[in-house]
Amino acid sequence: KQSLTLLGLESSCDDTAAAVVRQSGQAPAEVLSSVVFGQTELHSAFGGVVPEIAARAHAEKLDHCVRDALAAANLRLQDMDAIAVTAGPGLIGGVISGVMCAKGLAAATGLPLVGVNHLAGHALTPRLTDAVPYPYLMLLVSGGHCQYLIVRGPDEFKRLGGTIDDAPGEAFDKTARLLGLPQPGGPSVQKEAESGDPRRFRFPRPLLDRPDCNLSFSGLKTALMRMRDQVMAEKGGLTRQDRADLCAGFQAAVADVLAEKTRRAIRHYLEEAPATRTVTVAGGVAANTAIRAMLETVCSEVDAQFVAPPLALCTDNAAMIAYAGLERFRSGGQDGMDLTARPRWPL
Ligand code: KG4
Ligand code: ZN
Repeated sequence: KQSLTLLGLESSCDDTAAAVVRQSGQAPAEVLSSVVFGQTELHSAFGGVVPEIAARAHAEKLDHCVRDALAAANLRLQDMDAIAVTAGPGLIGGVISGVMCAKGLAAATGLPLVGVNHLAGHALTPRLTDAVPYPYLMLLVSGGHCQYLIVRGPDEFKRLGGTIDDAPGEAFDKTARLLGLPQPGGPSVQKEAESGDPRRFRFPRPLLDRPDCNLSFSGLKTALMRMRDQVMAEKGGLTRQDRADLCAGFQAAVADVLAEKTRRAIRHYLEEAPATRTVTVAGGVAANTAIRAMLETVCSEVDAQFVAPPLALCTDNAAMIAYAGLERFRSGGQDGMDLTARPRWPL
């Protein structure tokens, strides 16, 4: 079929989302609607996502999201060609809610069901937004993930390396918590860092002595805690400037480590594919302006094109799931009613 229209569902973490994506022939794909219900307030009192609360909220919100996404696209369920759903990896209760909802819709309409890997959704986003050709390099940086991938096809990924402990977003969130800044930590730390001196505190640059593309961020949190405690012991508290300097030092360390590891990942990628030269980024941390600027610089050093999808499609959303489902469906991929939710599912 020339034109494909898919409904996508996403519920693997703390966002409930539904979206409609269409692609006609070789034309670029279009996001006809994308609805996201965040759960930040539900979890804010607990200092992190509570899986049971998330699962319940997903179950309650999915129907509304689907209705709103169809209405915003001015389409009906019968106008869809298939239903795509995140089948993992993620918090299992939420993933089950999404898979059950998608199965119900598929059973009621007879539409094909397409299970999608959440990470593939992020990794294929530059194709949805910028029609980037395969193979391209992807830095996936979010609250739960951090990895370098050569994306060769809708179902073909080569992992060059990734974090051996925390994801960068998690490190930003913990930093915010340690400094009494609001969650999610990324935006608050970035804001503080704007008025800080990144050189005042000497943060480590973990794993730069190793030649591979693996990263580590948990040491930065430990270093931050030590520096914070030292300042507090000396002065009895933290000033606004201390906080800003700590944030700036932390953020610079994350950006430096990512810069050097990205250079290495690009070297591997260019060996494999010297012609396409496209470096992309996705995940919530891609919102960070210092990290974006750094990636742009690193790409210009080697004359590679840098593609960063708009923010709303970098963070968790269902348009990326609908699109990854569309690519999978187009190449013959489909699931039956035995589709299962997978808490772990490496690419
Ligand atoms: O992709 P995402 O919405 O959810 C998943 O983790 O899958 O990413 C959320 C993460 C959070 O840890 C948040 O603190 C981080 O992305 N983040 C940022 C920024 N905006 C969001 N980290 C650094 N700088 C930002 N401006
Ligand atoms: Zn995600």
